Amino acid sequence: MTEQPANRRRLSRRHLLTSGAVAGGALLGGGAVAAVTDRDRPAAAPTPVADLSIGTGTEPFHGPRQAGVATYPQAHASFVAFTLHRGVDRAALGRLMRLLTDDAARLTQGQPALADTERELALLPARLTVTFGFGPGFYRAAGLDDRRPPSVADLPPFAIDRLEPRWSGGDLLIQICADDPVTVAHAQRMLIKDARPFGAVRWTQLGFRRSRGVQDEAHTQHNLLGQLDGTTNPQPGTAAFEQAVWVSDGPAWQRDGTTLVIRRIRTELETWDLLGRTDKEMALGRRLDTGAPLTGQAEHDPPDFTATDELGFTVIPEFSHVARAHVADERLMIMRRPYNYDGVPNADGHPDSGLIFASYQADIDRQFLPVQRRLAERDLLNEWTTPIGSAVFAIPPGCAPGGWVGQQLLE
Ligand code: HEM
Repeated sequence: MTEQPANRRRLSRRHLLTSGAVAGGALLGGGAVAAVTDRDRPAAAPTPVADLSIGTGTEPFHGPRQAGVATYPQAHASFVAFTLHRGVDRAALGRLMRLLTDDAARLTQGQPALADTERELALLPARLTVTFGFGPGFYRAAGLDDRRPPSVADLPPFAIDRLEPRWSGGDLLIQICADDPVTVAHAQRMLIKDARPFGAVRWTQLGFRRSRGVQDEAHTQHNLLGQLDGTTNPQPGTAAFEQAVWVSDGPAWQRDGTTLVIRRIRTELETWDLLGRTDKEMALGRRLDTGAPLTGQAEHDPPDFTATDELGFTVIPEFSHVARAHVADERLMIMRRPYNYDGVPNADGHPDSGLIFASYQADIDRQFLPVQRRLAERDLLNEWTTPIGSAVFAIPPGCAPGGWVGQQLLE
């Protein structure tokens, strides 16, 4: 008798199990059927176990500094800017900030806000942080313009700007970040509900990074242009971060605070697509795959901006983005915490993509502006990037339990 090929045997058994004969087979007893299926089942893929710690994770809310700056960037963000209503004064701003602080303190810890209409949605905080920012108009409304950090003022115009009012300015900012978009949406709704008696929503910008768990956190993420974005950034916990980001002296309403510049920068992906890889790398000054500088092998190799090729040209083009943006003095660096945005493609299928470029630094004039000026003057990347929104905010210090954000300024 000839041996049946193994797959034929398997086929006929499967057939047996799925055809009417199964009923008869079952009569042989459950054990017999189970023995056959177990032996024949292909090596089973391990049952995926959901990492529920992503949903239940929390970031501390109370502390001398607000969360959401040194916090490892969550996957989703919403930046909501308000225009304060006329007549909202210092006392009203105190009431507003007490209310919003209370909401944020609860929601970030996985508890519903006081007047929460969807209490269940608050139970998975997914590392929610809520960070408040005060624009120049906040200080004016409070009658406290003399307490405004001088660098928190509208940026000067740059030739590259194509700013649209719908993405620019703002008296109050609420930055909401979490590893889950439902959490962000719920927190955003609760906070807006409480803020709207005091101000109108001026703009909202929604951004995203890679989902938590998709990539090792030690890995720098790619932006939508395909570049590793975030390599040369001061690292939380280092002296460089302390000095570059946090205000360490001055009055209590500034100390342990920082400043934030938000630029909405559209990326022209259709024309970027026309470039070859080498040209893309030359425009940036780094490789797309490893993120290494054009003079190095690995991502964190220090770039050599003076190295030249056989023709005498610098290996990292002098007008490349990193050559123009580079800051040698650690204390003068900016801390970038950008989010991608990707809106609805237009009828021709052209994307509406870019970066919500968020830069935190102790002082905008001293740190952000020199870099922005150099980039506006000459940066190969400008060909494929267009700033369409701009806003500046002071990020005041945090608060202890029982206190509220803005208390040092307003009381
Ligand atoms: C859509 C706009 C932008 C894109 C796509 C972009 C992308 C990048 C990328 C991929 C890098 C290299 C990797 C890294 O160190 O993170 C980089 C570096 C940098 N960018 Fe940008 N960037 C943009 C706008 C800006 C703006 C507006 C500023 C500041 C005004 C800025 C400041 C910097 C700085 C300071 C560095 C580090 C340079 C160094 O020392 O090597 N970038 N950017």
